[in-house]
Amino acid sequence: MKAAARARANIALLKYWGKADDGPLNIPAVGSISITLDALWSDTEVHFDGSLAADELTLNGQHRPEQLDRVRRCLDLLRGRAGVKRPARITSRNNFPTGAGLASSASGYAALTAAAAAALDVKLTARELSIVARQGSGSAARSVFGGFVEMHAGMRPDGSDSYAEPLMPAEAWPLELVVAVTARSEKQVSSRAGMTRSAATSPYFPAWVARSPVDLKQGREAILKRDFESLADVAERNCLSMHGAAMAARPPLLYWNGATIACLEAVRELRRGGVPVFFTIDAGPQLKAVCAPGESAAVREALTDVPGVVDVLQSGLGCGVEAAIPDSG
Ligand code: DP6
Repeated sequence: MKAAARARANIALLKYWGKADDGPLNIPAVGSISITLDALWSDTEVHFDGSLAADELTLNGQHRPEQLDRVRRCLDLLRGRAGVKRPARITSRNNFPTGAGLASSASGYAALTAAAAAALDVKLTARELSIVARQGSGSAARSVFGGFVEMHAGMRPDGSDSYAEPLMPAEAWPLELVVAVTARSEKQVSSRAGMTRSAATSPYFPAWVARSPVDLKQGREAILKRDFESLADVAERNCLSMHGAAMAARPPLLYWNGATIACLEAVRELRRGGVPVFFTIDAGPQLKAVCAPGESAAVREALTDVPGVVDVLQSGLGCGVEAAIPDSG
């Protein structure tokens, strides 16, 4: 009863920010569109072992008991389907620096769900896998798939229509990503807490939710037509709207530092100079620059030169989650 899975990180171009249900179902208030990355991943092994007293989680070599509530949410759904009660030992590792402000919950929970399902021999469709992964972390629902992915907010209170699905394969438009790391410390307010605070206190939150279907439509059409300018326009606007809603929360949520703004200016300068690139920023101070195929060298060079940038990472687009059952299993 042991299996391993690898899932890649993803970056939202149209953001998920806010929940329709912030209980265990974890249903997003808005849909989102992301790209799955090839260079950043989580490798997770799950072993259901009757000799354990309780579930155990090791992340990058460290015990993380505070994460177990969320982990159990996914495991219990699968244990229920398999009719198994055994505790699990979960060992997960990210190949990218933790504390670099890159969401590891997306790749982590997608890998956990796929590995646990394989270990229990529970046959799930990719859509079902996405629904279970969502209950660990909303963005994880998207890391089940590769390339361009759309997550549906859904309408049903049980979350059964709140899942991700592929929008377009990576090969159809191999965009490139450059991440400017501007701080190494763990973020102060998690996405989860930031969303809850924005929804509860920001006067701009209802406007953010109301605008989302319009942005998603433009983003979806831009991707399917490979219209870089239109995608850049909607992605930057959507990102700044999300941060606008967050900044108007009480107390305010300001995820950026000076170098984040300097990077944003550098991206705009590149675009004015004819380089097809746009920025996006999540719940942290790192800036992610998305560029057209073959353009990442120029973007990397420009962002490396920005004062305050401590590291630069690069990635292409990658595939969906992959699970394997070890021979000895
Ligand atoms: C800003 O998926 O980390 O990165 O569902 O509470 O685990 P939970 O939130 P999470 O939120 C990601 C927020 C974001 C935008 C995005 O990835 O869409």
